[in-house]
Amino acid sequence: MSAPRILVFDSGVGGLSITQCIRRTVPGARLVYLADNACFPYGDQSETLVTERCLKLIEDTLKTYPSQLIVVACNTASTVVLPQLRAMTHLPVVGVVPAIKPAAAVSQNRRIGLLATPATIRRAYLDRLADEFAADCQLHRVGHPELVRWIEDWVAGAALPETALKAVLAPFQQAQVDTVVLGCTHYPLIVEQLQTLLPGVQHWVDSGQAIARRTADLLERAGYPSGDRGREPAMDAMLFSGQIPHGIEQFLPRLGLSAGLLRGGWPGQGEPATAIGSV
Ligand code: DGL
Repeated sequence: MSAPRILVFDSGVGGLSITQCIRRTVPGARLVYLADNACFPYGDQSETLVTERCLKLIEDTLKTYPSQLIVVACNTASTVVLPQLRAMTHLPVVGVVPAIKPAAAVSQNRRIGLLATPATIRRAYLDRLADEFAADCQLHRVGHPELVRWIEDWVAGAALPETALKAVLAPFQQAQVDTVVLGCTHYPLIVEQLQTLLPGVQHWVDSGQAIARRTADLLERAGYPSGDRGREPAMDAMLFSGQIPHGIEQFLPRLGLSAGLLRGGWPGQGEPATAIGSV
């Protein structure tokens, strides 16, 4: 059996935090990254639009890049799209949910902070997660509308607005949480900066490792080889519905990643809006 291909989907570059974990855990897999950055951020869009766009983009991409597994590396999309996506395809689909359960397992003072997009914070399934896994904890929720944009800009080379970021995190400091859940896949990309701003927090928890383990487990059970792909690029392709993000080529090596092809305007009719490499 040849190397399995995994399609990783997000609204922007946040899913790279998940891709990095998958790459380390399943080095033999072929990876294709698909970002709906023309519609970024998903937190500002209606559930119907997010669902329609995810399904269409994934369906179209699978025609060119047949895959064995789909990872929806976006909390905001996972909260709405998973049932329809699973109905659309026979492929296994792995989604991301905020890591409230692992956070409750490590918090000692039972005070947990949850940092996510406003859309993720207000979805009902979050209450279910909290009731089921962290009923004995105080859960302090911060849903910030701009943080994902700041991170996209930072990846493109801009500085993070530190004073504003500190203000975002202030409720966690006031509540003296000992654990913070990073409930958006963009946030682990700046975990070092977050740690510096909130040195009192002992545990920063995200879903990357859990998603990578689940992915490895599903591929192993399906009988796919787990060997390394040596010097080949970590990702076969990075496909963007909008423009290729500025600075992405310089950023990828910081995560131990590389891409054989970068393409904007995907999936387009005819010539791509922008492309580096070849399909
Ligand atoms: N990375 C996405 C997430 O995990 C970003 C959200 C957005 O586009 O609003 O939720």
